[in-house]
Amino acid sequence: MRKPIIAGNWKMFKTRDEALQFILAVNEQLPSREKVDSVICSQFTVLRCLVKRQGENLRIGAQNMHFADEGAFTGEVSGQMLKSIGVSYVIIGHSERRAMFNETDEAVNKKLLKAFECDLTPILCVGESLEQREGGRTEEVIGKQLELDLANLTKEQVKTLVIAYEPIWAIGTGKTATSQVADETCGFIRKTVAKLFDKATAEAIRIQYGGSVKTSNIDELMSMPNIDGALIGGASLKADDFVTLVKAAVK
Ligand code: 13P
Repeated sequence: MRKPIIAGNWKMFKTRDEALQFILAVNEQLPSREKVDSVICSQFTVLRCLVKRQGENLRIGAQNMHFADEGAFTGEVSGQMLKSIGVSYVIIGHSERRAMFNETDEAVNKKLLKAFECDLTPILCVGESLEQREGGRTEEVIGKQLELDLANLTKEQVKTLVIAYEPIWAIGTGKTATSQVADETCGFIRKTVAKLFDKATAEAIRIQYGGSVKTSNIDELMSMPNIDGALIGGASLKADDFVTLVKAAVK
């Protein structure tokens, strides 16, 4: 049995005061970590303040990292730096970074390898555009992303990796993929991991769905066999909604 994982991706939202208010409101209400992994991925400036206040049942993640250990990379943050302040997770290859910051599969792959070296758990994002889905290219696009992104990773690493299937057309649009479409594509991702590694690895890996997940559709998404959790943008910004979303994963 795979433990569900619900992660909030705050993107570029929340000042320090807003982040503090949120964490104080959710800490006591989250279900046990034995049943579900609850994660908040914040922007860099509030990571330390969240880590210091994280309750027993919450863990903190970053939204990006550089693949180098250190160097003249103005504006970048390394995996070691994240680890040194107690961060546990890092989102890698979010479609917004791929589209707006020219992040390539080669860079995503290097970041994944470095994240494991730094003992961070990566949440790898993959997904197709509307044009690609409508052109019947979803599997080709995601298959290629997985092949390139997961190159040179060991089975042991892939087993602990989290993959988020985020169709670009469903992000921030209010258009959720139907639970069938989401499950089908998560199933394809699992099959591809089995092909690239082996069946045991594919059975162990946790696959989230992301894209307009909210309190009204989480139950149905979580009831699907290939969906082990959710990566949530907008709806993770409200403390009450985040708690409801996490609780839905342990029903
Ligand atoms: P929304 O939940 O706001 O659609 O964002 C999804 C997302 O991009 C999470 O990483």
